[in-house]
Amino acid sequence: MAGNWKMYKNASETTAFFEKFNPLVAGASHCEVVIAPTFVNIAAAVAATKGTNIGIGAQDVYWKNEGAFTGEVSAPMIAAVGAQWVIIGHSERRQFFGETDETVLQKTVAALEAGLKPIICVGEMLADREAGKTADVLTRQFQGGIAGLTPEQFARIVIAYEPVWAIGTGKTATPEIAADAHKCIRAQARAKFGAAAADAVRILYGGSVKPDNVKNLMAQPDIDGALVGGASLKPDSFASIVNF
Ligand code: 13P
Repeated sequence: MAGNWKMYKNASETTAFFEKFNPLVAGASHCEVVIAPTFVNIAAAVAATKGTNIGIGAQDVYWKNEGAFTGEVSAPMIAAVGAQWVIIGHSERRQFFGETDETVLQKTVAALEAGLKPIICVGEMLADREAGKTADVLTRQFQGGIAGLTPEQFARIVIAYEPVWAIGTGKTATPEIAADAHKCIRAQARAKFGAAAADAVRILYGGSVKPDNVKNLMAQPDIDGALVGGASLKPDSFASIVNF
């Protein structure tokens, strides 16, 4: 169960969140709990979750370890500040910041080399869905961004299916629509990496997940967790999603 804070919260708001949130999920042993704040608040989040079951992640990463790349942050830097996870290929990066399947693959390899656990996002736009191209888009994103991994690398990633039309819109995919897409992604994984690897990979659903719809989504056999935006910003709402 992962929270993507996007561009919300400063350091003191980060600390205040965890003061309330940590005890609410202290008993959650059925899942891993992850929060991804902005880069500048990772240190505050790591400090505020020391000794808890909560992991901290970044929302992006660059694929070189260091160099003249103004504004970028590398995987070893993220690991050094105490984060364990990184979200890669979020649709907002793809739509607004030029992320491609190729850069997703480069970033994933760099993250794995630094010992980070990547959460790789895929998902179709509304126009794709309306044109009946959802499976084509998921296939292209899988083939371009994930199929280039070795089996060892694939075993260390998490995939997130986030239909772009459901992000921040309040329009959740129905559990059946989400389950269909998850099945399609798992079929890609099976074809490329085999049945055992495909069964083992965790596929999260993201897009307007809320305390009142998480249970039905999680009831789908191919949905293994959630990647939550807006509802992860409040301690009680994200805790009730974690403890669905
Ligand atoms: P919302 O939960 O706000 O729709 O955002 C989903 C998301 O993009 C998580 O990465």
